[in-house]
Amino acid sequence: MDLRSRQWWDNPANPDMTALYLERYLNFGLTRAELQSGRPVIGIAQTGSDLVPCNRHHVELADRVRDGIRDAGGIPLEFPVHPLQETGKRPTAALDRNLAYLGLVEVLYGYPLDGVVLTTGCDKTTGACLMAAATVNLPAIVLSGGPMLNGYIGGERAGSGLVIWQSRRLLAAGKIDYAEFMDRVACSAPSVGHCNTMGTALSMNSIAEALGMSLPGCAAIPAPHRERGQIAYDTGRRAVDLVRDDVTPRSIMTREAFENAIAVTAAIAGSTNCPIHLNAIARHAGVALTNDDWEAVGGGVPVLVNCAPAGTYLGEDFHRAGGIPAVLHTLLAVGRLHPDALCVNGRTIAENAAPSSDPSVVAASVDDAFSPRGGFLVLHGNLFRSAMMKMSVATSAFLPAPTVTWRAVVFEGPEDYHRRIDDPSLDIDEGCLLVVRNTGPIGYPGSAEVVNMQPPAALIMRGVQALATLGDGRQSGTSDAPSILNASPEAAIGGNLAILRTGDRVTLDMPTRRLDAELTDEEIEERWSAYVPPPRVDQTPWQELFRAHTGQMDTGSCLDFAVEYQDIVHTKGLP
Ligand code: FES
Ligand code: MG
Repeated sequence: MDLRSRQWWDNPANPDMTALYLERYLNFGLTRAELQSGRPVIGIAQTGSDLVPCNRHHVELADRVRDGIRDAGGIPLEFPVHPLQETGKRPTAALDRNLAYLGLVEVLYGYPLDGVVLTTGCDKTTGACLMAAATVNLPAIVLSGGPMLNGYIGGERAGSGLVIWQSRRLLAAGKIDYAEFMDRVACSAPSVGHCNTMGTALSMNSIAEALGMSLPGCAAIPAPHRERGQIAYDTGRRAVDLVRDDVTPRSIMTREAFENAIAVTAAIAGSTNCPIHLNAIARHAGVALTNDDWEAVGGGVPVLVNCAPAGTYLGEDFHRAGGIPAVLHTLLAVGRLHPDALCVNGRTIAENAAPSSDPSVVAASVDDAFSPRGGFLVLHGNLFRSAMMKMSVATSAFLPAPTVTWRAVVFEGPEDYHRRIDDPSLDIDEGCLLVVRNTGPIGYPGSAEVVNMQPPAALIMRGVQALATLGDGRQSGTSDAPSILNASPEAAIGGNLAILRTGDRVTLDMPTRRLDAELTDEEIEERWSAYVPPPRVDQTPWQELFRAHTGQMDTGSCLDFAVEYQDIVHTKGLP
């Protein structure tokens, strides 16, 4: 086997450079015999740290990964990935996904690694890791860190994120105070691990498994369970075999694998952030995938997993019911998957499937689905080229009829929304559409999770739990809000959301999948000629670089120049 790492550490044709590359890796106790033994060198891309509590458990799990790599005859080398934590990073973690991606590409390409274990968990860590693996195309395997244990308030399950959206309504209605609000939120985080709802983290790790990039069952095992350490060990072992068998990410992440991932996202009622990240992974893998594929492939898939926010249960329950292998089993029975797609364990998706062990959490048959409407609706219209709506949370209050007309109430961003939402002069009622703009990738920058705006307090006290919302930003995957979001192009780069005004009428027509403002082309043009864009201020050098090169959400918000680099280990040779 011709190991890439030997070019650094065992190249008799170039003793000077070999000596230089080799000697420093000896200084912490590795031996020359080890490094020149022809054993695969496996990187452990460590996404956990004190700054990333969702993934912090990986710091301990890495010991089991190392054991597995060693036992299979490899040499583990752990290294850090730029921290990506969803709730702690300002202005938003979405700004940093492409930065972590760039950093990881550089590491995988430029260091003596033959393969890599990608540790994933919090939302963007999975996207960034798989995007980088696709670009470099070095043998890679995903190890997710697993969800937290179930949270409870009293006897009721309290899911990550969702508890915040629910509690802020209670706070707005005066039913709880600040201290109770904080206590309720803490109840949802009882252990190490990532969000326990089917938010973006669990959705993305489920997608990694559905793509075939992790061992079967990996996504749902709760972080503190013994099986988590055991699968960490098995993942380390398997990484060595992937190098020996030369199984690359691009041989796993095929068009069929991406279609499987879309079907699974629909079946789990996955996060509205999934299309953005999966489309990005596909672009870096050289696979054509668009938002329209999401409706074509995922459109008719029913909801098979009863997890919050669309359902009742949490990650622990999902694992006990069989996790992703059980979802695959139910989908395969109705021909909704490509059964022969290969996974990193060397078996097919069909071979990795296993029946549900609790049909109240994972439906054993599509006849027992929790909702007929999984997946996303992809909308077009005169305000954007593409926007998404998550069908599993679109209630009849939001969609009383196939065609609905609302009165728009427009906010210039989350700060403006918070300042004015309770202003009585806006006269907000059930017939209103709350609109937030300047919250996309370039406008915010990074794109903010703010479209799930709650109604004014006066309406909540009258029992109105949600209003229709629209925006060029995103929303948390843990939110149960029925929003029209991820609108591309965003206001900041000339999307027509920029010229929408409070009082405009906006119509959603479900049969034609259109959302249109009642404005003529002439009116739109007239408004643009009078338009003054809001000032754009970069706070950091990366914000400036990001804004100069990052694309819109419908195409994955990738760095435009980065997608030109395809399969770089093979096309660019050695660094
Ligand atoms: Fe990190 Fe949800 S905030 S996993
Ligand atoms: Mg999020």
